[in-house]
Amino acid sequence: TPRVFSGIKPSGDLHLGNYLGAIRRFVPLQETHETIYCVVDMHAITVWQDPEDLRRWTYEIAAAYIAAGVDPTRSIIFNQSQVMEHAELSWVFNCVARMGWMARMTQFKDKAGENSENVSLGLFAYPSLMAADILLYKATAVPVGEDQRQHLELTRDIAKKFNHDFKKQIKSAGFKDEFFPITETLATGPAMRVKSLKDGTKKMSKSEASDLATIYMMDGADLIAKKIKRATTDPAALPSEVAGLADRPEAENLVGIYAALSNRTAEAVLGEFGGQGWGVFKPALADLAVSVLAPIADEMARLVADRGEMDRILRDGAARARAIAQPIMADVRNIVGFVR
Ligand code: TYM
Repeated sequence: TPRVFSGIKPSGDLHLGNYLGAIRRFVPLQETHETIYCVVDMHAITVWQDPEDLRRWTYEIAAAYIAAGVDPTRSIIFNQSQVMEHAELSWVFNCVARMGWMARMTQFKDKAGENSENVSLGLFAYPSLMAADILLYKATAVPVGEDQRQHLELTRDIAKKFNHDFKKQIKSAGFKDEFFPITETLATGPAMRVKSLKDGTKKMSKSEASDLATIYMMDGADLIAKKIKRATTDPAALPSEVAGLADRPEAENLVGIYAALSNRTAEAVLGEFGGQGWGVFKPALADLAVSVLAPIADEMARLVADRGEMDRILRDGAARARAIAQPIMADVRNIVGFVR
């Protein structure tokens, strides 16, 4: 069976973008793939994390996976730092990837800003660890939001270069010519790039200035309704065709969110709401968002309160992850020429 890997960083409260772009899409893949869902705590510390927050967010993300419908007995749910092979393979990849590849990453450039002399070395090498996450399991498909596309292209570049650099050793170890698979990015559908509610040109993110710009998964019903009501929009009514959303980024964003939350297409949503104003659409969107998110938030709260149970789930997931990772890492050591 084909294998899926995805991960989320415990570096802030989960928001609607994380839910629509990633978490909710993890659930149906369990029917068709072997699924591995990770909490990437080692990625989180590439920028400073308060250790107590890191721990709390780690539990919160694992709980969100489960509350949204990921079954911890069918899927593997674990936190990255419990499987040390992630670090080991990322070191090998640090020696395969080129400085120039990393320097071109737009997320690095955004995060490093003007003063890249002062960011951590880990932040620069971030995509190399991400490639290790995926290739340690020879995962063939990765469900993510739009913003991760470039990192996954780099993952393919690393796989290709490793396969090429060690061609001879890979053959003599008994593999055909490809050791690592060329992983596919799964990022199509509505809401693959959820925007800030206050600025239709910016993505919704864990770090936002205005606290009305982001809907968090743990927000209460009233707060969700308030944020949607206050969302920035143009004054025009909704169009009846998708083409009418061009050059209307805020309208396009809200329609995309509605479509994703209701498992419909944007066309179908406009078929229902075309010609209506925001006074009709926003309350309908708020009701829909609350009806989807509130039960998940309740279940998350219940799960995180039981740390013993969460620890058990993460430990069991890590053991099952290791069982897949260890033989692959053993092959890598052998291919590279490390003596055991
Ligand atoms: P992270 O933690 O920033 O985000 C987690 C997931 O949420 C998606 N996402 C969004 N989707 C739609 N609209 C948005 N506004 C939005 N914001 C975030 C992200 O695309 C992602 O799918 N580097 C990754 C974590 C990672 C990973 C991996 C992912 C580490 N190793 C291996 C896949 C496979 C990250 O920082 O995601």
